Amino acid sequence: MPRALLTGASGRLGSVILEDLSDVWDIVPLSRRGGKGAVKCDILSHMDRETLPGRNFDIVVNTAAASSPSYCAARPAESWILNTMWPRALAEYCRGKAIQLIHFSTDLVYSGGTPPYSETSLAVPMSFYGWTKLIADILVQKADPDALIVRTSVLCGKTGSNRATFSEDLLSGRLNTVYVDCWRNHTPIHWLAGILPELVKRGESGLVIASGRYAQSRSAYAEALLKKHGKSTDHLVQEYMPPNIPSRLHLRGKYSTSLIY
Ligand SMILES: NC(=O)c1ccc[n+]([C@@H]2O[C@H](COP(=O)([O-])OP(=O)(O)OC[C@H]3O[C@@H](n4cnc5c(N)ncnc54)[C@H](OP(=O)(O)O)[C@@H]3O)[C@@H](O)[C@H]2O)c1
Repeated sequence: MPRALLTGASGRLGSVILEDLSDVWDIVPLSRRGGKGAVKCDILSHMDRETLPGRNFDIVVNTAAASSPSYCAARPAESWILNTMWPRALAEYCRGKAIQLIHFSTDLVYSGGTPPYSETSLAVPMSFYGWTKLIADILVQKADPDALIVRTSVLCGKTGSNRATFSEDLLSGRLNTVYVDCWRNHTPIHWLAGILPELVKRGESGLVIASGRYAQSRSAYAEALLKKHGKSTDHLVQEYMPPNIPSRLHLRGKYSTSLIY
């Protein structure tokens, strides 16, 4: 069984990868605080980074990130290290040891002005978060041309993380306001985790877009999700989104699924 080092194991995607792929990969999870079987590694701490497990790995999966645009805007230096410098360092490490790196990117690298977006489309982010991710993608590819960068959209589905996905927020009633003019390829998180071993087996490298097949407005997605789960949509408040957020982020990448909810 291939041995995989997984960063961000307490996050949305990391927790799903850990849960769903543990019978395919022998996973060593890392998390900022440790515990629950995870090795403690605060990526911002030089000491923690130095004590990373010394075992040999076949795969490194990097899901650790400052994943929200507002968090990145409020803490730019920390976000730059996590989202940009850390992936580049990992890529150099993996290149040196011939380890397969899988790193995750976001549709928020695109402006939303010229959809649809494929792997060859020009990316011009509208947020600092988007820039941290885009520059990481470029640096990772440069440092390790064999690295696989999986660019995806809004992650949906149930996870073991204490952070909620968009669909969990809607179903729990925590999120009521939805934008009518923001199109995204809502992506089932378990599908995304599930395709990773196949991508590795196929020898995929470079930038690959993997997402839900169809772009839907946030409000249309919310209505359909709630209806599918037999819930009322009466409480939903439909609004236009604030400025400076990409609007039409239609993705047309190499890997997609018609599973939506
Ligand atoms: N969520 C989405 O809808 C979405 C959409 C497109 C792309 N992506 C990309 O997918 C990847 C995974 O996103 P996600 O939603 O799973 O992120 P997430 O839920 O926010 O999880 C991020 C993970 O990074 C860890 N982390 C943060 N700071 C750290 C530090 N200093 N040291 C060690 N670990 C640290 C977090 O640990 P703690 O639990 O300790 O904070 C958490 O485990 C990211 O690259 C993101 O950009 C996500």
